[in-house]
Amino acid sequence: RLRTKFEGKVASRRRDAMEILKGFEERCRTPADKLKKVAEDLVAMMHRGLEDEDSSCVKMLVSYVNCLPTGDEVGLFYALDLGGTNFRVMQVLLQGRNSGIKQKQRSYKVPSELKVGKLHELFDYMAERVAAFIREEEEGSDFHFLPGQKRELGFTFSFPVHNKEINSGTLVRWTKSYDMEDAMCKDVVEELKKALEKQGLEINVTALVNDTVGTVAEGRYYDKDCVAGVILGTGTNAAYVEHVKQIQKLRGSLQNSEHVVINMEWGNFQSLNLPFTEYDLKLDCQSLHPHEQILEKMISGEYLGEIVRRVLLKMAEEDSFFGEIVPPKLKQPYILGTDVLSAMHDDPSSDHNMVDQKLSDVLEIHDLPLEKRIIIVKLCDIVTKRGARLSAAAMLGILKKLGRDRRGTDGKVERTVIAIDGSLYGKYELFRKYLKDALGELLDNEVFQMVSLQQATDGSGIGAAIVAATHSINSLRS
Ligand code: GLC
Repeated sequence: RLRTKFEGKVASRRRDAMEILKGFEERCRTPADKLKKVAEDLVAMMHRGLEDEDSSCVKMLVSYVNCLPTGDEVGLFYALDLGGTNFRVMQVLLQGRNSGIKQKQRSYKVPSELKVGKLHELFDYMAERVAAFIREEEEGSDFHFLPGQKRELGFTFSFPVHNKEINSGTLVRWTKSYDMEDAMCKDVVEELKKALEKQGLEINVTALVNDTVGTVAEGRYYDKDCVAGVILGTGTNAAYVEHVKQIQKLRGSLQNSEHVVINMEWGNFQSLNLPFTEYDLKLDCQSLHPHEQILEKMISGEYLGEIVRRVLLKMAEEDSFFGEIVPPKLKQPYILGTDVLSAMHDDPSSDHNMVDQKLSDVLEIHDLPLEKRIIIVKLCDIVTKRGARLSAAAMLGILKKLGRDRRGTDGKVERTVIAIDGSLYGKYELFRKYLKDALGELLDNEVFQMVSLQQATDGSGIGAAIVAATHSINSLRS
């Protein structure tokens, strides 16, 4: 339905750059009342997803993480974290309350051809590196297993998965820049086990978790008031702690548990209240997964730079913004990363030299006059502000669902911690600021003061090791 808003409305008149910018800014506006509607729409979809996920754009996937950490966990665990851009293998030493966590890790970029090849090729590639890491680290390591402890691994697989239990699950569909058809319907843990066996490695895959689920676990390890984990990185998503009795679709399973973590997959949220523009529409249609992950395409690191590129291209085509010739590099999809966006935008200098430097490095556009640099910074601001404010609206959705956006029936306001991980949040200062400002606008001040946004240290890595500990095959609680 979002698409019909634009069909047949292709502008026939050439606009100048300011007109394009102003028109775009107008359509990207996110006043508080609009954000509140977005949050309400999300809550409605959350309810639907908990009842019957086929009738909701947010799947509300049950993670089977029903045992949350207390901070007392001990032992040596491995984590394998497959994200949008990198995969990491980690050794994590949990030392119990007050003794901290120690870790060692290696990170590898996922080669782009492996993201769209065959599943076993990617898993073999990872398993080889996991095996090498484990062998090298265990030789003469100062991290020790507890007596009798077997090797265990928490696998963070940052895509929508139907968990059948904590250590098994099938892919719902690929998101971000991944697309391996042969992975559908396969149990990703079984596939990983096969790959690890080929390396002659004995290790128990104890938990299969989404990065958001790991982020909740890590948040909870440090703070008992943590109820949700949010990823703002290459992709975006959230998980939160739900009462089992609220999850109608469970139909009898997990009845001995009070709580379980739900992976919302909020990136796929859509609503007519979203400030969707003609640029979003084209980005979506030409993306690897059209008509899916609409919220993610307006918020996350994979896409923010691409939205800016598309608006700049429009300015170049309609108003010769960069001279008579449209710069060839500007025509290349995804050439403008969100790291470039944040470097240009976060730069406080009044002459915006960083814009010149980045455009020259990345797009081979040189010597841009100050007034044009100012326009570009403004454009980055519009895109980033919209993404950050929509993230705040989505967080409000979770708070509403949990009844934590208001005083409780006893008149008190509960303290609520939301753990946030991901490079967009971690590395983009203005994004963080806009998100917090928006949440402040959306909540009453006394509630806002009790909501703490905590930057996670490493939810998707350490978090997975923590879940492996709380669901360990060894019984290791201190
Ligand atoms: C995408 C994935 C989701 C993941 C998020 C952040 O939205 O579908 O599972 O949590 O990216 O990495």
